[in-house]
Amino acid sequence: MNQASSDFLAIVLAAGHGTRMKSALPKVLHPLLGREMVSYPVQAALDAGASRVVCVVGHGAEQVTSALSARFGERVLTALQEQQLGTGDAARAGQRAVPDWDGWIVILHGDSALITSRALSALMARAREAKGPLALLTASLPDATGYGRIVRDAQGVIVGIREQKDCSPDEAALREFNPGVYAVRADFFAASIGSLNTDNAQRELYLTDLVSLAAKIGGATGVPWDVAELHGINDRRELAASEQALAARIVRAHQVAGVTVRAPESVRIDAEVVIAADVVLEPNVTLRGKTRVERGAHIDVGCVPTTTIVGEGAHLKPYSVASDAVIGAEARIGPFAHLRPGTELAADVHIGNFVEPKNTRIGNGSKANHLAYLGDGQIGQGVNVGAGTIFCNYDGWSKHVTVLEDGAFIGSDSQLVAPGTVGKDAYVGTGTTVTMDVPEDAFAIGRTRQENKPGLAKRLRARLAAAAAAAKAKK
Ligand code: UD1
Ligand code: CA
Repeated sequence: MNQASSDFLAIVLAAGHGTRMKSALPKVLHPLLGREMVSYPVQAALDAGASRVVCVVGHGAEQVTSALSARFGERVLTALQEQQLGTGDAARAGQRAVPDWDGWIVILHGDSALITSRALSALMARAREAKGPLALLTASLPDATGYGRIVRDAQGVIVGIREQKDCSPDEAALREFNPGVYAVRADFFAASIGSLNTDNAQRELYLTDLVSLAAKIGGATGVPWDVAELHGINDRRELAASEQALAARIVRAHQVAGVTVRAPESVRIDAEVVIAADVVLEPNVTLRGKTRVERGAHIDVGCVPTTTIVGEGAHLKPYSVASDAVIGAEARIGPFAHLRPGTELAADVHIGNFVEPKNTRIGNGSKANHLAYLGDGQIGQGVNVGAGTIFCNYDGWSKHVTVLEDGAFIGSDSQLVAPGTVGKDAYVGTGTTVTMDVPEDAFAIGRTRQENKPGLAKRLRARLAAAAAAAKAKK
C-alpha cells in the first residue's frame, strides 16, 4: 500500500526493562538472526503499509534510538517514555508524538519478533469492517501462563483482558490470550487513554484495559491468528524459541526460491542473507550478516561465512570460515580455510586447508593449497604459493605489503619479509627467507647448502644405541 494514503500508523512499545532477560543489553536490542529484536515488529509494520512507525523507547533509550535510526533512518520516529509506568502509559507516550493523527493506530510490542505484515494487514482489514473502536489479534495455547487472558461473556463476546497476575483460578484456566497487537481508532484512544488507572496487581497503567472500555462502547473485535506469529520474548528461553522459529521460516523461504538445503533444521541463515537459485547448503552451514551467495555455489558442511560474497559456482569445502571476504566464481576453498576480512579472491582461485589470507587480493587462477599465512598481500594471476609460506607482514608496529606478481612461484616453507615484491614469473626456492625484492624471471634462494657425509648415519646409530645400553646397565 502507498504509505501516504495509508489509514493507519503503528506504535511499537519498546521502553520496558526486560527484567527477565537478566541482561545489560536492553531486551529489544538482543539479536535474532543478526537483527535487533525490535527491528522485526517495526519492519512488519512498515511492510504492512503503516504511514508512520513510532517506537516508544525508555530503558536504554539512547542505544535503542541509535539502533533504530541506523537501520530505518527517517522512516521511524522515536518517543520517549520517561518512566516505565506500564503499557498504557507507553502507548500514550507514542501517541503524543503524532497528536494530529486521526486514523487508526496499530499498537504492538517490541518483543513480538515473529509478527508478520500479513497478520497486521488482516487485523486492519477486520478493524475497518467491524467499525468498532478497537480490534485485536487473539490466539490460544494449551497453557497460556504469563499472558493476559481474553475474557468473553456467555455469548462469546469479548468483554476484557485479565492479566496473569490479576487472574482468578477460572480465568487462569482460559486458553485464549492477548498477544498484544491492537488496532485502535485515534479518537477513541485519545478519549479513553486518560481514564486508565493502576488499580491492579502490578500497579501499572495497563493498555489492555482499553479493551473493556471499547467493549462497552461499540465492541472489541477479536481476530484469531496463528499463534506461531504471536509469541512474545521475555526470557532467554523464549529468545531461543523465537529465533529457531524465524530460522525455520527463513530456510523455508529460501527453499521455495530454489535453494537446496540438505538438513534444514541444522542450517542457520541470518535475516539479511541473499541466496541465488541452485545454491546447495549442506548440513550445519551458518550464513551470517549480509552474506550473498551467487548461483550454483556449493557451501559444504559446517562452513560459516559472515558478510561474505560467494561467487557463482564456488565451492566452500567443509568447515571453512570467512568474514568480510569476496570469493570469486568457481573458486575452491578449504576444507578448513580461514578467510579473514579484506580477502578478495578472483575467479578460479584455490585456497586449501589451513590457509589464512587477510586483507589480501588474489588474482585469477592463483593457488595456495596448504598451510599458509597471507597477510596484507597483493597476489597476481597464476601464482603458486607453496605449503607453509608465511607473509611476515608485521614488525611489531606497522603492517607491510607483500606483492607477488603474475606467474610467481613460491617454494614451500618460504617466509616473505614485508614490504617486498616477487616479480613476474620469478621463482623462490623452497625454504627461502625473502628479504629483498626478487626481479622478474629471477630465481631466489636463501638457504644453507646441503652436505652429505657418507656412512655417518650408520655410525651415529651405533654410537647412540651403545650409549643407551650403557645407561640401562648402570640402573
Ligand atoms: C503484555 C500484556 C499482556 C500480553 C503480553 C503479550 C499488558 C498490561 N499486558 O504483558 O496482556 O499477553 O504483553 O506479550 O499490556 N513496555 C513499555 N513501557 C512500559 C511497559 C512495557 O514500553 O512501561 C513495553 C515493553 O518494552 C514490551 C511491551 O511493552 O515490549 C510489553 O511489555 P511486557 O512487560 O513484556 O508485558 P507483558 O507482561 O508481557
Ligand atoms: Ca512481553
